Amino acid sequence: MPRDNSKPSLIQKIATQAQIAFKNCNDGKDFLSNLAELSALLGDIRAADLNITPPKKKSSGSGTRARRRAPVTYMHICETRTFSMGVFALRSGVSIPLHDHPGMNGMLKVLYGKVRIRCFDKLDGPPEPDPESGTVSGAESGTVPKDAVCLAALRSSGEFTQQSAPCVLSPSEDNLHQIDALDGPAAFLDILAPPYDPDDGRDCHYYRVLRKTSKNGDEKKGDETVCLLEIPQPEDFWCGSEPYPGPKVTM
Ligand SMILES: [Fe+2]
Repeated sequence: MPRDNSKPSLIQKIATQAQIAFKNCNDGKDFLSNLAELSALLGDIRAADLNITPPKKKSSGSGTRARRRAPVTYMHICETRTFSMGVFALRSGVSIPLHDHPGMNGMLKVLYGKVRIRCFDKLDGPPEPDPESGTVSGAESGTVPKDAVCLAALRSSGEFTQQSAPCVLSPSEDNLHQIDALDGPAAFLDILAPPYDPDDGRDCHYYRVLRKTSKNGDEKKGDETVCLLEIPQPEDFWCGSEPYPGPKVTM
């Protein structure tokens, strides 16, 4: 049977809806309903819709060849001034380190495998420095200058599979996250709005959790307050690229 090309693919519908939703993201009520529609479309997407096949679990990097394969690869699908969309594929046992998305919205939908996502919010105000030294002590690194650290609250930690609803972040909520592949390789569809752009103040920063702190922590709500240290991109984490094999998306 020839393919019916008159119907848009699901990934095309997602791209079209992302453009509508995020182009008008300051329009409160419309934004929420457009976002709900986008979330519903994302909830239906599966790896097969993008012609993506999960690799075998043995691709964990424990092979005998000393090739330095990228722990994570990115398949670019499309990008406009409003949003970018692509697929991140994580090898078994890999983590995308804790990082931020300054001033950006995001939606993440697992396509195969299982990931743990830990989301943080940055909190106002600096961590309490040591009164004598003026530095902030970190559990692992001794002391660091106070302007290199910030406070953040752990907002959620959950496991996501292809059955899960999309994980959502906004400029003010759940904006920092760490993503760990659990029990084998994993992949997720990622939408960021607007896209990262270092020239427009939207560069990606990486962080390490220095220590837990009780300051400002709302332990009744289950939030955990931590002290974060901004770090360079970790040496064992980098992102390669591979071609996107799915239906063409036009914007
Ligand atoms: Fe991210």
